[in-house]
Amino acid sequence: MSETRISRRAALMGAGAVAAWLSSPARAVLQAVGQVQTPAFINDLIGRMTLEEKAGQLQIMAAAWAGGRALAGNPPQGNSDFPKQVEEARQGLLTGVFNGNGANMAQIMQTAAVRESRLKIPLMFAADIFHGHRTIFPVGLGEVASFEPELARRTAEAAAFEAAGAGIDWNFSPMVDLARDQRWGRGIEGGGEDVLLGRLFAAARVRGFQGDDLKSTEHMLACIKHFAAYGAAESGLDYNVVDMSESRLREVYLQPYKAGFDAGALSAMSSFNEINGVPSTGNHWLITDLLRGEWGFKGFVVSDYTSDQEMIDAGFAKDGRDAARLAFLAGVDMSMQSGLYREHLPNLVRSGELPQAKLDESVRRVLRLKAMLGLFDDPFRRINAKRETARSMLPQARALAREAGRKSIVLLKNDDDLLPLPRAGRRVALIGPFAAGPHDLVGPGVFYGDDAKAVDLATGVRRLLADPNGLIIAAGSDVEAPLPGGIEQAVAAARRADVVVLAIGEGANMSGEAQSRTDIVVPPPQQRLAEAVAAVGKPIVIVLKHGRALALEGAVANAQAILATWFLGTETGNSIADILFGEHSPSARLPVSFPLRSGQEPYYYAHKSTGRPNPPGDLQPYKAHFRGIPNAALYPFGHGLTYGKIEYSGLTISAPTLPMSGAIVVAAKVTNRGARAAEEVVQLYTHERTASVTRPVRELKAFRKVSLAPGQSQVVSFTLRASDLAFYGRDAKPRVEPGTFDVWIAPSAESDGVRGTIDVLA
Ligand code: NOJ
Repeated sequence: MSETRISRRAALMGAGAVAAWLSSPARAVLQAVGQVQTPAFINDLIGRMTLEEKAGQLQIMAAAWAGGRALAGNPPQGNSDFPKQVEEARQGLLTGVFNGNGANMAQIMQTAAVRESRLKIPLMFAADIFHGHRTIFPVGLGEVASFEPELARRTAEAAAFEAAGAGIDWNFSPMVDLARDQRWGRGIEGGGEDVLLGRLFAAARVRGFQGDDLKSTEHMLACIKHFAAYGAAESGLDYNVVDMSESRLREVYLQPYKAGFDAGALSAMSSFNEINGVPSTGNHWLITDLLRGEWGFKGFVVSDYTSDQEMIDAGFAKDGRDAARLAFLAGVDMSMQSGLYREHLPNLVRSGELPQAKLDESVRRVLRLKAMLGLFDDPFRRINAKRETARSMLPQARALAREAGRKSIVLLKNDDDLLPLPRAGRRVALIGPFAAGPHDLVGPGVFYGDDAKAVDLATGVRRLLADPNGLIIAAGSDVEAPLPGGIEQAVAAARRADVVVLAIGEGANMSGEAQSRTDIVVPPPQQRLAEAVAAVGKPIVIVLKHGRALALEGAVANAQAILATWFLGTETGNSIADILFGEHSPSARLPVSFPLRSGQEPYYYAHKSTGRPNPPGDLQPYKAHFRGIPNAALYPFGHGLTYGKIEYSGLTISAPTLPMSGAIVVAAKVTNRGARAAEEVVQLYTHERTASVTRPVRELKAFRKVSLAPGQSQVVSFTLRASDLAFYGRDAKPRVEPGTFDVWIAPSAESDGVRGTIDVLA
C-alpha cells in the first residue's frame, strides 16, 4: 500500500483508520528507523570523548547570531554572543543551537564544529517551526478544525521542505498537548480538546515533518512536546501544576503523545509543569518507566527551555547541581538553555553521583540521531544558502496555505443564509482592527514568517469583489483599546453599506506561551464597537480572529453570520474571502467547544454527567449548572455549518449486540437538502451508561468528511469494535466493560443527530 493511499485512508479517520495506520507499512518503516543499531563508530567516538565533550553533546542553546530572533519567544537568559558560541562549537561544548538564522549562520558554526573541533562531531540545528517556516499555514488548532489529518501531514511536510532547506535538522514540534481549558494560551498550538482528533493530528504532523527517511534534506526530526500533560495546567494558568488520576492521564492526556511516538517521532521535550507533585523534567516514572520502558521509545529527551533549572523555584531541586542531577536521573538526555548539564554533569560523574554508563547512554542516543539525520555523512547536507532562497514561499506552498486556511474556517452561524455574499450588487463595509493591514496574520509562535508577506482581509476581499473600489474600510477600534473617533467612523461606514463584515477578536499576542486569559471574551473596546455597529441595523457577518474558543456575547453572538477563522497565516485574506463569497463552501468543525460564558471553563464536551444533570429543557434547581445558564456550549465541539442543508436520518446498527472480540457496523443517511454543494463531517459518538468508572456523556469514536451535491444522499457507515470502547479502570489499566452503550451519528457533540443503542456482551 502506498503512503498516499494510507494517508487517504487516515483522512477517512475514525478508529478503523487509526488501526490501519498502526499496522501500515509506512509506520513499519518508521519503526525500523527507530530500531536502527548504533553504528560502531559512535561507540568508538564515545570512548574517545572527555566528560566535558560528552556533557557538551547534551547541551543545546539559543542561537546567538546577532539580530536573530532566537530569544524572542522565551525569557532572556543565558544569552551568548555569536563569536563565543562559535568558540564553544570549536571546543565541542555544544550539541547544537536553536532558532538560528538560516544557512549562512549554520555554515559558520558547522565549519567550526566539523573542521576545527577535536572530535569533529557535527552540530544539529533546531528550531520552533510550529505552523510553517516562511510560508505560514493556519495555527495548529485552526488546522485541526479541518478534521482532515492528511491536510496537517501535507502542511507539516511543506514546512519541513522550507525549513530543512534553510539548514534546520530538528523541529521542536509538533506540540500535541491536549487542552480543555480555553483560558490557557497554548491550546492554539495543539490538537484541541478531543482524544481521537489529538491522536490523529499528532501522528499526521510527525509523518509530515519526518517523512520516511530522516536523512532526507526535505525533512527533519520531529519532537513530541510537551511531555506530559502541559495542557492540563490548573485553571488554565500557563506553567501551573497538574494533579490528576493516572487513569485520566492515560485515557486522555497521554494519548496524543503516544500516537506521535507510534508514528515514529524520535525526540521528545519534557514539559514545564509538575504532575502530582513531581516536575516532568525530574519525573523518572514519566520519562524512564513509562516513555522508555512501557512505550519502548528509542529517541532522546530534551528539557524545555530552562525547565531543569526551574525545578529549583518549583521546590523540587536544591540548586543547579541538584537540578541537573535530578533531570538527568529522571531520563532527560539533553538540557535546553540553562547550561546546567554542561556545568555540572562532568563533576557529578566524577563524584560518583551519576554513573558514567548513563552519561554514555545519553550521548549515544543523541549521536545516533545525528547519524540517522545523515549529519556524520554530510554535516552540511541541509545547509545551502541558495536552496534556502529557492525553496522560500513557492507558489505551491502559498496555494497549500490558502487551501488549509479555507479548510480551517468554521461557519458557526448563518441566519437567513446571509453567507455567501454576492460578489456584486451590495456595498460591503469591512470594519474592525483586523479588517486591513499587515498585522496579526501569521499568529503567535512564528520565528521566520512575516506578516508583511501575508495577505490581509481587505486585500482578499478586494480581489473577489466585482467593484473593489466600492469596499468601505474602517478600523473602528484597536485590539485592546478604543481608537479616538473609531466608533463614529465605523458607524458612518456601516450606514453607507448594505452589509457589514466585522473583523474582530484576539490579537496575535493574546494567545501562545504565557498568554492565559481570565476572561475569554472579545476584548471590551471591540465589543463596544460591535454593539454600536449592530445598532445601525445592517446585516452583520462576524469574522473572528482568535487563538482559543471565545465566549461570545451581545451583538457578536447575535450577528446573523459568524465565521471562526483563528490565525490562518500567509494566505489569511484570500482564504477568508474564498469562504465569504462562496468560492468554496465552509467544511471545518470546532475542535474546541465555545462556552456560553468564560466562567464555565474548563468546558469540554466529553465531561461527566454528575449525579444531578439538568434534564433537557428549562434549568431546574439543585441541578448541575451555573446560575442562569445550562451546562452546555454555545457552539459545541464538532459544530460547523455548510452552505448546504444537511439532514441526518435512518440510523442502522448491524446487530443489537457486540461480543467482546467482535465488530459492529453503525450507519446513517446524510442528505443535502440545500441548493449548494457541501462537505459534511459525519461524527460517531458513544456513551456507556454504567461502568465501574463513570464515563463521559459522549466520546468521539470516528468521523468522516463526505461531499454532497444539492439533493444528494449518502449512507455513511462506521465499523466499531468492542476494543474501541475501552477505558482506563481504577487500576489505570485499559478494559472494556460489558453494558449498554448509546450511539449517535451526529453533526456535533451536543446535537441529537440519529441515535441508537448497542449491548456489549461479556
Ligand atoms: C519554550 C516552549 O515551551 C517550547 O515549546 C519551545 O520549543 C522552547 N521554548 C524553545 O523556543
